Amino acid sequence: MRILSGVQPSGKLHIGNYFGAIRQFVELQHKGHGLYFIADLHALTTIREADRMRELSHDVALNFLSLGLDPEKATLFRQSDIPEVTELSWILSTVTPMGLLERAHSYKDKTARGISADHGLFAYPVLMAADILVYHSDKVPVGKDQKQHLEITRDIAVKFNQTYCKNFDPQTGEGGVLKLPDPHILDDTAVVPGVDGQKMSKSYNNTIELFAPEKQVRKSIMGIKTDSTPLEDPKNPDACNVFALLKLFAKPDELADIRAKYEAGGTGYGDFKKRLFELFMETFGEARMRYEELSVNEDYVNEVLNKGARQAREIASGLMDQVRRAIGLK
Ligand code: ADP
Ligand code: TRP
Repeated sequence: MRILSGVQPSGKLHIGNYFGAIRQFVELQHKGHGLYFIADLHALTTIREADRMRELSHDVALNFLSLGLDPEKATLFRQSDIPEVTELSWILSTVTPMGLLERAHSYKDKTARGISADHGLFAYPVLMAADILVYHSDKVPVGKDQKQHLEITRDIAVKFNQTYCKNFDPQTGEGGVLKLPDPHILDDTAVVPGVDGQKMSKSYNNTIELFAPEKQVRKSIMGIKTDSTPLEDPKNPDACNVFALLKLFAKPDELADIRAKYEAGGTGYGDFKKRLFELFMETFGEARMRYEELSVNEDYVNEVLNKGARQAREIASGLMDQVRRAIGLK
């Protein structure tokens, strides 16, 4: 089984990225061959400073390695090191209906928030489809926000196969050059809320960063938005952002205990936040130490990425050979 996913270097990674995506990458590396990449080409739609791009790309690699991805098991690489991806992206764009992209949330949401759309943002799902299809991926672990992109990927793959592969059967997905991938989305961590209660996202300024200095982590956690229920009153855990985050960290017994404290009253939100901070440090303490160590070992990180790129290219060039033949470029 081949498992593939990417993370954009569009900002420092946060607990939403971990629980929604990277934790699954780490667990899945024992179940099949994992390919995990830094989606730098996608991040060009938001990062327009060369130094920042270099810094953030390197940081995603540090995150991968610190959080437990093992370069002996998984292939870790930069998206832009694989030119086959952009070639396939163009080819796929010639079979992608405009309407499919006009309905994409990433484009619709950004334009609705007044961010001016360029062609890169509009074509974003096509590039993502190329990422996935170029490696014959079986499974794509992502957070729920990426579900529509995976549906679009399947639609594009079907369209390509129907156009170019005589024996393709859309019912079974057999007989095509492009393999139809399955999403892998965990329901309980599908959407991690940010400190303001919206989806936690690098682009909303509402994150708790995984590798920020301790002081900053504490500040983000103590700043989580809560309502103004007085300390002594009972509180509703299911309407509280702090509780939603505690759910990710606390073991079931402790969580039941915390729930009881909410409902009984007499404990302030500040105390729940302090516990969340402690649990954060317990959970990520080791990874944070590894991050410090790797931060001063740039050569090692680059070596891992270069080796990953060679492995990934080998797979991608095999697929592109089949694609070029199927469409008559060869
Ligand atoms: P961001 O929205 O912060 O820019 P990305 O779009 O780069 O994050 O997402 C990287 C991975 O992390 C994706 O698989 C995405 O689904 C997942 N992810 C991002 N934010 C969250 C969240 N708040 N909850 C769950 N998963 C998330
Ligand atoms: N669009 C994804 C995100 O924002 C990143 C990404 C790019 C990706 N290409 C991918 C994820 C291919 C999975 C598979 O999170």
